[in-house]
Amino acid sequence: MNLIKQDGKIKYGRLIGASLGPGDPELITRRAWAVLQSGARWLYPVKKAEESSYALAIAERGGLAVPADAEALVFPMTRDPEILDKAWARAAVRTIELLAEGRDLVFLVEGDASTFATFGHLARVVRQLVPEVEVETIPGVSSFAAAAAATGTILAEEDETLAVIPAAYGVEFIDHLIDEFDTLVLLKVKPMIDETVELLERRGLVATSCFVEKVGAPGERIVCDVASLKGEKVNYLSLMIVQNPQRARGELRRGCRKRVERKQVAAAETA
Ligand SMILES: C[S@@+](CC[C@H](N)C(=O)[O-])C[C@H]1O[C@@H](n2cnc3c(N)ncnc32)[C@H](O)[C@@H]1O
Repeated sequence: MNLIKQDGKIKYGRLIGASLGPGDPELITRRAWAVLQSGARWLYPVKKAEESSYALAIAERGGLAVPADAEALVFPMTRDPEILDKAWARAAVRTIELLAEGRDLVFLVEGDASTFATFGHLARVVRQLVPEVEVETIPGVSSFAAAAAATGTILAEEDETLAVIPAAYGVEFIDHLIDEFDTLVLLKVKPMIDETVELLERRGLVATSCFVEKVGAPGERIVCDVASLKGEKVNYLSLMIVQNPQRARGELRRGCRKRVERKQVAAAETA
């Protein structure tokens, strides 16, 4: 390993999390695009060694050639804490080894790097081990922002409420949140499709729900007749947007609208 030293101390490169959006390379921000071409070394996540990377494919579809020294980090899809701990430790140690060469690293992230993304955890572990490593997070378009746009859904306006949760919390929890939020975004909905659709049928919300798979990527699928999904095996990269137009709203304690109303009343009084 080639270590760059300054005053006898290792000079680490910066760790940059580049959000690439959910699939359409047109949604890569200018900042992420620039960093990908800055000479920083690319790191990208895969579920298994030698497997393709969804994040890397977004950059490739955008027309960028994958640098010869780009490297995959393996993040297995399991809940087994032992396997996960080992994989995380391996990924963090390798990241630190590369940062110690003094070159910046750009970690390719699907969607937004601050939203249910591997990057947050990787950056935290790296910083725990080497606090002086500088981390930059480049924000990006999340899957649900793109899914809302693709389905023509307004996620929230005025004083409406919005929640984004992994569907794995279960239908009882989702049932409860339907009463609390005007719009619910259910991520990681794959193993929960049948139960979720049955709940939406019971609650009369099938007509105001949409399912979106691989938004912006080849194979994108939008299904707004969600009842037709029952019994289907869907892709991991899928989500549901559920809207409850009947939600009973509480009183707003303080809101922008009230202030505007007061200003208008004052203006009317002085007129
Ligand atoms: C680990 S989270 C990643 C979220 C991502 N960082 C973001 O900003 O959207 C994975 C979940 O996000 C959703 N997701 C990510 N990419 C998607 C896509 N292209 N189309 C639909 N859903 C997607 C799915 O619910 C998937 O199970």
